Amino acid sequence: MKNKIEDLLKKKENAKLGGGQEKIDSQHSKGKLTARERIELLVDHGSFEEIDIFVKHRATDFGLDKQHFAGDGVITGYAKIDGRPIALFSQDFTVFGGSLSEAHAEKIVKIMDAALKLGIPVIGLNDSGGARIQEGVVSLGGYADIFLRNTLASGVVPQISVVLGPCAGGAVYSPAITDFVFMVKNSSYMFVTGPNVVKTVTHEEVSFEDLGGAETHASKSGVAHFIYDNEVETLLNVRRLMSYLPLNYKDRPLEKNFEIERLKPEEKLNMIIPDNPNKPYDMKEIINLLVDDNDFLEVHSNYAENMIVGFARLGGMAVGIVANQPEVLAGVLDINASVKGARFVRFCDAFNIPLLVLEDVPGFLPGTEQEWGGIIRHGAKLLFAFSEATVPKVTVITRKAYGGAYDVMNSKHIRGDFNFAWPSAEIAVMGPKGAVEIIFKKEISSSSKPEAELEKKLNEYIDKFANPFIAAERGYIDDVIEPSQTKINLINVFQLLKTKVDTNPKKKHGNIPL
Ligand code: HXC
Repeated sequence: MKNKIEDLLKKKENAKLGGGQEKIDSQHSKGKLTARERIELLVDHGSFEEIDIFVKHRATDFGLDKQHFAGDGVITGYAKIDGRPIALFSQDFTVFGGSLSEAHAEKIVKIMDAALKLGIPVIGLNDSGGARIQEGVVSLGGYADIFLRNTLASGVVPQISVVLGPCAGGAVYSPAITDFVFMVKNSSYMFVTGPNVVKTVTHEEVSFEDLGGAETHASKSGVAHFIYDNEVETLLNVRRLMSYLPLNYKDRPLEKNFEIERLKPEEKLNMIIPDNPNKPYDMKEIINLLVDDNDFLEVHSNYAENMIVGFARLGGMAVGIVANQPEVLAGVLDINASVKGARFVRFCDAFNIPLLVLEDVPGFLPGTEQEWGGIIRHGAKLLFAFSEATVPKVTVITRKAYGGAYDVMNSKHIRGDFNFAWPSAEIAVMGPKGAVEIIFKKEISSSSKPEAELEKKLNEYIDKFANPFIAAERGYIDDVIEPSQTKINLINVFQLLKTKVDTNPKKKHGNIPL
């Protein structure tokens, strides 16, 4: 027995070297960690239960019959993050560049199938040259097997992709189907076709980084939700994200202890909204003052910055926050902001994360670029997402709620559970100037003093509509609240909403305007 155990340990030790020390050194020299070092950083110490360490590929062409590495370029298994279970895979670039063979794909599929049965999240650490070229179509089939699992698991368990190296060709579609994509600046990239193919087809010259690097995907395409300077920071923030998520669609996010008795009114909130309604302010200041420990995990922080989305805790309860940002484009809803918001709302709804909406929106962005780009279709996504969401939904209108955007941003009419407004709220079909110029066009143009007439009508309109009370008289606003008291109001109603049950009509699935 002793010999057998020694032999086993030797085999495992050997397997843990992946493609060998030289390849590990090369990985380090690129500023990258190895697949195993990444797992150690990501999961609770000692919690990793590896499976399939001895799996090998079965290919024989192009000399592969003479090249075998135990594990075949991917490490798979189960572990814990903050004591809660996850399934994970970590591609090993030191073995055939982390490329995906039939056996490699089977290992990933195995833990995904198990994660669905167990109801636990799947985290994929991607670092791969794509389909193992020597295996041809078998490898493509392996990818499709993974894409199918990604799709079937969507909305059942959270899926997180961490891109820590190359991710090219069709391989990008697995991360794209998952819920969140993390990337690392200057060492990870994603593209359907690389710079060389781009040059041949479109004659454009572009670097790897500009075409598909972390900053590109965080700011231009919106493919990456989170980017960080290095792998350590990235993996620690994956842990941070996990702290807000439940294990599956039946589970709820963890609630932390919170002593509401010690909560005091936040007077600073009474001073943020400027007297001049056209002056911007930073909605993130409001968010930070409202959430527990001023701790807000922003998602997509560099993309469509006129819309803010992210996770935080309120009175210990995890919430998803969707907010307009008056500091960027006056907080207007455009195509990218609508899509960003809609995807986030749907994630929260799928995984029982209550939604808090902070609203200051002057409407949808006008112009040919937006109309021809399909703002109707994309804006409808946000409307659809809020309307179908059955999780607790609470809105606070801090200032403007104009036009269709009033309806869209979780209004009472689309099942907002509690809709609050600050006294600074202006709820109307449009801003005062635009409204007055339309409805009093004749009076103003026929007046001997058109400017004075405009001013008079403007003041009348502001007195009548630029406030929250007409909406409150109708019950569209449940209460007009003092900003300093808002956190207390929110904790009270989110506590109350814990027993909320709401459903949608039975159907196969809705048809969100994609
Ligand atoms: C087999 C591969 C491989 C692959 C890399 N390697 N990619 N082996 N299949 N796809 C091997 C290399 O031969 C090399 O082996 C080792 O991995 C490291 O690769 P290097 O090229 O030395 O590393 P580096 O210079 O860092 O370049 C990394 C790279 C490059 C940019 C990823 O290797 C590359 O361009 N690979 C091909 C990428 C690609 O076109 N993949 C197919 C995409 S299409 P040795 O033994 O020399 O160390 C696709 C379709 C998916 O994936 C479709 C799904 C539907």
